[in-house]
Order: sequence, then C-alpha cells, then structure tokens
Amino acid sequence: MRFLKLILVLLFIAVPLVASADKAKTIDELAKMYDSSSCKGCHEDIYTQWEKSHHARPLMGVKGGLMLSPLAAKKGTEGATAFSEDDPKKMKIKNYPCFKCHLPQAITSAEDSVAVELTEALLAKDKVKIAKLQITCIVCHNTKAIIHKRELGEPEKGVIYSTKDMEAHPGGKIKKSAIFKDSIYCGQCHGLGPNLEFDQPFQCANLYGSYLHNYVSGGGTKTCQNCHMQKGDHLIAPNFNDDKQTSELLAKALSLDVETLGYEWLRKAKTYVPKVVVSTKIKTTAGHRIPDG
Ligand code: HEC
Ligand code: HEC
Ligand code: HEC
Ligand code: HEC
Ligand code: HEC
Repeated sequence: MRFLKLILVLLFIAVPLVASADKAKTIDELAKMYDSSSCKGCHEDIYTQWEKSHHARPLMGVKGGLMLSPLAAKKGTEGATAFSEDDPKKMKIKNYPCFKCHLPQAITSAEDSVAVELTEALLAKDKVKIAKLQITCIVCHNTKAIIHKRELGEPEKGVIYSTKDMEAHPGGKIKKSAIFKDSIYCGQCHGLGPNLEFDQPFQCANLYGSYLHNYVSGGGTKTCQNCHMQKGDHLIAPNFNDDKQTSELLAKALSLDVETLGYEWLRKAKTYVPKVVVSTKIKTTAGHRIPDG
C-alpha cells in the first residue's frame, strides 16, 4: 500500500514536470523564445515596417492602450470581466482567451505563471514589460504557418515557413507553407464572428467573416495579401497610431457621391411647397466592412 502511494505521488510530481519541460515560465522567457531580432540584419526594411505595425504591439495596439486591463482587474471591482479573478495569482492562460489571436505563442508555449506575471504587470501599468509580448516574425512564419495539423503535424521547431522552399536560406531552413498566399492565413486571427468555443463566448475581430460572406460571395477576387502586403510590405497598414496616414488611406478607400434635386411642388394653384431629394452613395474599395469590430 505504502509502495503504491509512493508511486502515485511520484506520478503526480513527474507528469506536470514532463508536460511543461519546454514552456516559458516568465514573460522574458516567452519573449526570448520568439525573439526575431536575428532577422533584422538581413531583412532591415521588412523589420522596420514590422516594428511600426500593429502586429508588433498586439497587447497595446492603439496609442499605447493596455486593452487586456479589464481581464486583469480584480473580480467584483469596476470594469472587471467574466474572465477576471479575485486574486492575480489565480490567473491562468485560460483566463485570457484573447491570446488565441493577440498572442498565440502564449497558448502553445507558456506556463500559467506567465498569465500571473502579465496580470500583475497590467495592474501596475508596466508598459515596458507588456511591450515585450509581440506577434514576431517567428509567430507568423512558424506558429501560424500550418492549419491542417492532423495531416501535416505541428510546425517544426527552428524552421521558417513562407511562400516557397529555400534550402540555402542563411537565416535557417525555409519550407513552403500551403496557406501563406491565401486569405485564410490572415483569417486565423482576423475572425469569423463570435468566438463560441470558449465557456464564455465573446466577439472581437470578425473581418474575415465579412470578407468571405460579403466580398468573395459578391465576386471579389483579391486576397488580403494582394491589398495589404504589396511588394512584401510588412507594415500591413493601416497603422492607427499614424493619424495622417490613417485618414489618407480612408479617404482613398471611401468615395461619397451625392446627387440632389431641388424642386417646388405645386400643391394647388399659387401654393408652392419646396422639396428636395438627396441621394447619397458611399462606396468602399475595401474587401470587407470598415471599420471592423
Ligand atoms: C544572414 C542573412 C539572413 C538572416 C539572418 C535571415 N535571412 Fe531571410 N533571407 C535572406 C536572403 C539573402 C533571402 C533571399 C533574398 C530575399 O528574399 O531577400 C532571404 C529570404 C527570406 C524569406 C523569403 C522566402 C520567400 O517566400 O520568398 C523569408 C520568409 C525569410 N528570409 C525570413 C527570415 C526570417 C523570419 C528570419 C529571422 C528568423 C530571417 N529570414 C533571417 C537572408 C537572411
Ligand atoms: C478571433 C481573434 C481575436 C480574439 C479571440 C480577440 N481579438 Fe482583439 N483583435 C483581433 C484583431 C485581428 C484585431 C485588429 C483588427 C480589427 O480590429 O479588425 C483586434 C483588435 C482589438 C482591439 C482594438 C485595438 C486596440 O489596440 O485597441 C481591442 C481593444 C481588442 N482587440 C481586445 C481584445 C480582447 C480584450 C480580447 C479577449 C477578451 C480579444 N481582443 C480577443 C483579434 C482577436
Ligand atoms: C497571429 C494572429 C494574426 C495574424 C496571423 C494576422 N494578424 Fe493582423 N492583427 C492581429 C492582431 C491581434 C491585431 C491588432 C493588434 C492591436 O492593434 O492591438 C492585428 C492588426 C492588423 C492590422 C492593423 C489594423 C487594426 O485594426 O489593428 C491589419 C491591417 C492587419 N492586422 C492585417 C493582417 C493581414 C493582411 C494578415 C495576413 C497577411 C494578418 N493581419 C495576419 C493578429 C493577426
Ligand atoms: C502578420 C504575420 C507576419 C509577420 C509578423 C511577419 N510576416 Fe513575413 N510574411 C507574411 C506573409 C503572409 C508573407 C507572404 C506575403 C505574400 O503573399 O507575398 C510574408 C512574406 C515574407 C517575406 C518574403 C517577401 C517577398 O517579397 O517575397 C520575407 C522575407 C518575410 N516575410 C520576412 C519577415 C520578417 C523578417 C519578419 C519580422 C520582421 C516577418 N516577415 C514578419 C506574414 C508575416
Ligand atoms: C480589395 C482590397 C482589400 C482586400 C481583399 C482586403 N482589404 Fe483590408 N482594407 C482594405 C482597405 C481599402 C481598407 C481601408 C483603408 C485602410 O484603413 O487602410 C482596409 C482596412 C483593413 C483593416 C482595418 C479595419 C478597420 O477597422 O478600420 C484591417 C484589419 C484589414 N483591412 C484586414 C484585412 C484582412 C485580414 C483581409 C483578408 C481577410 C483584408 N483586409 C482584405 C482593402 C482590402
């Protein structure tokens, strides 16, 4: 009996250790695992574009806001959400369903201790720490590169995935991904509608749904990459921190036609009633509704 107890105790200790052996325990460890600064030396233009992009600041996208703060707020306090807990130490990766799209590497590669550290950083408004968590080159070119995982398996460690094979890439082996040129690649994070798979559903981005059901179904033929990544542009505009660029892009994308007809209605002899017909047509060149969300 004693022996059996010992085995059970050993099992309980051993299992979590094995299962989590290569997961990050801290924000710094997670950032290091996906650090892409090694790409900078050879891909300087792309790197500079990416640094300014929303993908480089997925937890504080617009003007340095800390959008996960409501989840970090203590349960019962003002602004807290259904995902909040009464003690930051109780926060787990699962309490941040936002990671599905805002930080996918947290789901595959982080311990719950990272969620605790993030919660404490959010409560302390520690922007320097939170800014370390990014959708880096490796997140896009590895973690999100394969969707048919039952057939193709998980993305291989250390491999860069892209539009074609490249054995002799000086920055490490490049393999072709089946989806890099397709809209579904972006659709993994840009949303189909409400996220119904969670025990507490919610909605964030649903632009991919709009693209499929409103643009493609109406005869649209362009991909997200065609419109947003011309010549490999990794800024992937719009950049909402750049007000000038944002309004220029919107002005280019939206056209407003107004036709008016003014007339007088002769209700009865000598009784003129002024009338006006205004016909407005707003057209967009986007492949989906704007704004999204
Ligand atoms: C020592 C230089 C060097 C480093 C470091 C490097 N690359 Fe490259 N990479 C190249 C060269 C050269 C090419 C081929 C020419 C080109 O497309 O710019 C290339 C091409 C690529 C391509 C193009 C494949 C395609 O679809 O055409 C991708 C993607 C890529 N690199 C990603 C990365 C990423 C991600 C990193 C960092 C993890 C990285 N590279 C680091 C030199 C480098
Ligand atoms: C299905 C993927 C997905 C999930 C899940 C998701 N988001 Fe988002 N979120 C996005 C994308 C993509 C954008 C940017 C594009 C857009 O708005 O169309 C975005 C934008 C935002 C923005 C506006 C940008 C900013 O920086 O202010 C906020 C705020 C936000 N998300 C909060 C959350 C929170 C909080 C959660 C979790 C409760 C969450 N999101 C879950 C994909 C998602
Ligand atoms: C790993 C998930 C992920 C992938 C893959 C992804 N995005 Fe995003 N994208 C996001 C998130 C999250 C944001 C919002 C970050 C923020 O502002 O807080 C965003 C922001 C953007 C923005 C800036 C506008 C905005 O509303 O913030 C554009 C444009 C964009 N993405 C286009 C694309 C395109 C095009 C692709 C495919 C080539 C793509 N994204 C792939 C997650 C992703
Ligand atoms: C939001 C996801 C995302 C991020 C982040 C990202 N890439 Fe890409 N990258 C793509 C996609 C999608 C393509 C293919 C675009 C296309 O259809 O031509 C691509 C293409 C490339 C290419 C080939 C460009 C060409 O003109 O053929 C290179 C090189 C590259 N990426 C390097 C990088 C580097 C370096 C980083 C980090 C600084 C990075 N990428 C970050 C999604 C991403
Ligand atoms: C036919 C061209 C076209 C296609 C296809 C397209 N977009 Fe856009 N997109 C635009 C234009 C134009 C805008 C508005 C101008 C701007 O803000 O840059 C825009 C805006 C956006 C925004 C900002 C939304 C907001 O709330 O203001 C995001 C995010 C985005 N696109 C992502 C995507 C993704 C992801 C796909 C593929 C599923 C895609 N786009 C397909 C042209 C396109």
